[in-house]
Amino acid sequence: MTTALLGPASRRFALIALAALATMAGAQTSGNYEPQRGQAGKDVIWIPSPDEVVNRMLQMAEVKASDRVFDLGSGDGKIAIAAGRNYGARSTGLEFNPDMVQLSNRLAKEAGVADKVNFRQADIFVADFSSATVVTMYLLPELNLRLRPKLFTMPPGTRVVSHSFTMGDWQPDETARAGTGEVFLWRIPANASGQWKLTAPGVAEAGLRFSQKYQMLEGDAEFGPLRASIVQPRLSGDVLRFQVRDPSGVVLSFDGKVAGNRITGTVSRPGQAATPFQATREGEPSPIAERAPDPAELSSASLAASLAR
Ligand SMILES: C[S@@+](CC[C@H](N)C(=O)[O-])C[C@H]1O[C@@H](n2cnc3c(N)ncnc32)[C@H](O)[C@@H]1O
Repeated sequence: MTTALLGPASRRFALIALAALATMAGAQTSGNYEPQRGQAGKDVIWIPSPDEVVNRMLQMAEVKASDRVFDLGSGDGKIAIAAGRNYGARSTGLEFNPDMVQLSNRLAKEAGVADKVNFRQADIFVADFSSATVVTMYLLPELNLRLRPKLFTMPPGTRVVSHSFTMGDWQPDETARAGTGEVFLWRIPANASGQWKLTAPGVAEAGLRFSQKYQMLEGDAEFGPLRASIVQPRLSGDVLRFQVRDPSGVVLSFDGKVAGNRITGTVSRPGQAATPFQATREGEPSPIAERAPDPAELSSASLAASLAR
């Protein structure tokens, strides 16, 4: 899926960059600055995301007025401005090119959203965007991978939306094709890994064990001498759902929220009302993503991109 996407997208970037070189000489740097599609950027050229892609990115992230949106490499500011104008969200664009920052601040003013949308000159690999609840990007595969460890330090439930490019082996939670563009959404998962002690009225005391990579979970439950697999575990941000067949053969459905070393929620049996449960982690969780960019994944992403050019 990734390689198929890389080809046309990366080729399009390269062709537009060449065309831009021919027309950039006349670009202004003052108040009437006119950016050129394909102009050079620090780590990636500027091409604006089409309107239908921007709309879909913000829809998939379920942006609300209470959100704090950061667009990494914000170009002319269209994603951050749309988030402010269409959803009332406070938005910030981080952009390395100071002319683009000036232009987008002016466009935010013209759109009447300067009170909630702003742009800062910054390198996205240095800037602090830890207050974001939604992160948007239209970069390159290897830049996404370089950002991935930082994204995993953000609170569970933070939404990450990328135009065109994936995140290596971190599978998206949702995808879309909008016109010619691909959109990918991930939710930062809570860390549910490790050993848990389950307590719930009317349920035999049990140990739960989850192993986790990114948002993908597997695990089992131990009821004394009986070990049963955890069926269909699903983690979406901090929301954890799974099923277990108990010692009497009844399938229990759990619906909970992970908060640090505690999971609380409800458990239900077929045909019966849900009752509360809680689980407490015993010991330490394991890391669910690498803490630094994976060199092998990085080099295969940039090799695939350069072959596609
Ligand atoms: C493909 S454009 C996307 C613009 C906008 N996000 C959109 O989707 O319409 C990428 C932008 O990232 C900027 N950029 C490249 N490297 C950067 C860096 N290290 N820090 C901040 N901005 C960067 C470029 O100048 C360019 O404007």
